[in-house]
Amino acid sequence: MSASLLESHWLPFTDNRAFKREPRLFVRASGMHYWNERGDRILDGSSGLFTSAAGHCRPEIAKAVGEQLQTLDFTPSFMRGHPLAFKLADEVASLMPAGLGHVFFCNSGSESVDTAMKIAMAYHLARGEGQRSHFVSRERAYHGVNIGGTALSGMVRNREAFGTLLPGVLHMRHTLLPENRLKRGQGDVGVELADDLLRFVQLVGEKRIAAVFVEPIAGSTGVIVPPKGYLERIREICTRYGILLVFDEVICGFGRTGQAFAAQSFGVTPDMITMAKALTNGAQPMGAIAVRDDIYQTILDGAADGVTEFFHGYTYSAHPAACAAGLATLDIYRKERLFERARSLAPAFQDAMFALQDLPIVKDVRGYGLLAGIEVHPGKAPGVRGTELQGRLFDRGLHVKTTGDVAIIAPAFIAEPVHIEEIAAHLRDALTDERP
Ligand SMILES: Cc1ncc(COP(=O)(O)O)c(C=O)c1O
Repeated sequence: MSASLLESHWLPFTDNRAFKREPRLFVRASGMHYWNERGDRILDGSSGLFTSAAGHCRPEIAKAVGEQLQTLDFTPSFMRGHPLAFKLADEVASLMPAGLGHVFFCNSGSESVDTAMKIAMAYHLARGEGQRSHFVSRERAYHGVNIGGTALSGMVRNREAFGTLLPGVLHMRHTLLPENRLKRGQGDVGVELADDLLRFVQLVGEKRIAAVFVEPIAGSTGVIVPPKGYLERIREICTRYGILLVFDEVICGFGRTGQAFAAQSFGVTPDMITMAKALTNGAQPMGAIAVRDDIYQTILDGAADGVTEFFHGYTYSAHPAACAAGLATLDIYRKERLFERARSLAPAFQDAMFALQDLPIVKDVRGYGLLAGIEVHPGKAPGVRGTELQGRLFDRGLHVKTTGDVAIIAPAFIAEPVHIEEIAAHLRDALTDERP
């Protein structure tokens, strides 16, 4: 592509100057691979951006979206509906832990988080506890980039330019502990960090916190698996003090942890689950929030007859093309038993990732299910080595997402053992000569 054509597009979360000096473009994808402009094949080690769990360019999804766009391209989402939205909500609800039977659609993970915050506020107001205006999140959390999600964010680079976005957001400590370094799955140490929530209750008052947002596995910050007992204790405290627990499963949802949702993998049921990405296999933008039935009912009951109950929604909520993509995606997951496949691939995948710990540059390896973080010792400044690593891997034929100095590996569930071996071999090649 010519340099002048690269100018107008302002890339998100990207060093635009570096990208435009040395652009890395994908022009085609299929299954486990991308192709660049020169025709080189690049193995996808991160399912795109944790989106394409069933592999790229699935014809079933393309066909469903194409047909939908020729049948019913758009329906106003307020006061009107279309059958696919109800069908998809029903199918999403069927994957949820019992009791989370209502689904609100939006267009991204960020919107799902901000929507969940508003549902929490509307719910408490409807039950006469509108004074619950505090939200609790964690250090190192990523909850998207809208105003609410940025305020919840625990990643300094994502917040530092934006000042005080929302008053009353409190951050628990993160759970990345040196004691759990190189620990496969859930660490043994750190359950007591959940008591930060208790301290906040004691600090701001028993009926002041609306909701706690937790990524069951913190993904974008570099894969932090919760210590044993931690999520259970958060659940316990929330229940005790009437605080809503929201699991942000934008990365974990739809099989990444070996069950439909991490809530099931960890055996802890939240009050809401936010999701996006693999809901449509990344083929259409879509997010959703699954909500406990009585939260939905309380908000409905709180409004007078004839009055809209919840003043929130998007023009593209439950867009017909996104619903078609979602239904086709869930159909593939079901028919190909991809969540089970993710579960059965996980041990070999984790073996391959943890085997990299012998490299001197590797500082830590963390992982659960088909998700792993390989952290390298920092270079000149935090993040520089990680950025260089993803560039080098791309040039060798592997796409991975990096955050700071962590490579986040998350293959599609259609991966064959040979793809996992190839991902590990690329990482080993790229890291072998590096020294801390
Ligand atoms: C846990 C979590 N929440 C929210 C988001 C934001 O999603 P989106 O980029 O679709 O707005 C992400 C994106 O990676 C995420 O990992």
